[in-house]
Amino acid sequence: MTTAIYSRVQKLRKQYPEPTSAVLPALRLAQEEHGGWLPPEALREVADALDVTPAFCLSIASFYDQLRLEPVGRHLVEVCTNVSCALAGAQQVVEAFERGLGISAGTTSADGGFTLGTVECLGGCGWATVVAIDNRHRLRVQAEDVAGIIEELHAREA
Ligand code: FES
Repeated sequence: MTTAIYSRVQKLRKQYPEPTSAVLPALRLAQEEHGGWLPPEALREVADALDVTPAFCLSIASFYDQLRLEPVGRHLVEVCTNVSCALAGAQQVVEAFERGLGISAGTTSADGGFTLGTVECLGGCGWATVVAIDNRHRLRVQAEDVAGIIEELHAREA
């Protein structure tokens, strides 16, 4: 483990009565440090710092959508497809992103620019359809908004 991450996880550990309680925030921290996902070495790093097993870390990481066990693109687009968003047209939004980005939901573009995914409720049901783009929520997204959003993301790349 790099010294910087180790000391940050150790500091985090002191905020909780049990080391196991710190696993989730520690994994989030490790994910940030590893470019948005948790490679096996990240799970080992967290496990070592908290005196738990890598398997325990994996069990937590595989449960939460927000923790990723596969590399992600430079831009992460996550469309909520839960009930409120589904009723507001989430599937059409997903399909518009698939067409616009040229990838299927659950995959990353060949150039590593974009990962498209679907997620469960993002907590903004009153503003459906909600799309998280690089962890910032866009509200009331409709299929016809998608081309503009993709254009914006390409402009950020340039
Ligand atoms: S159902 Fe989409 S934000 Fe809750």
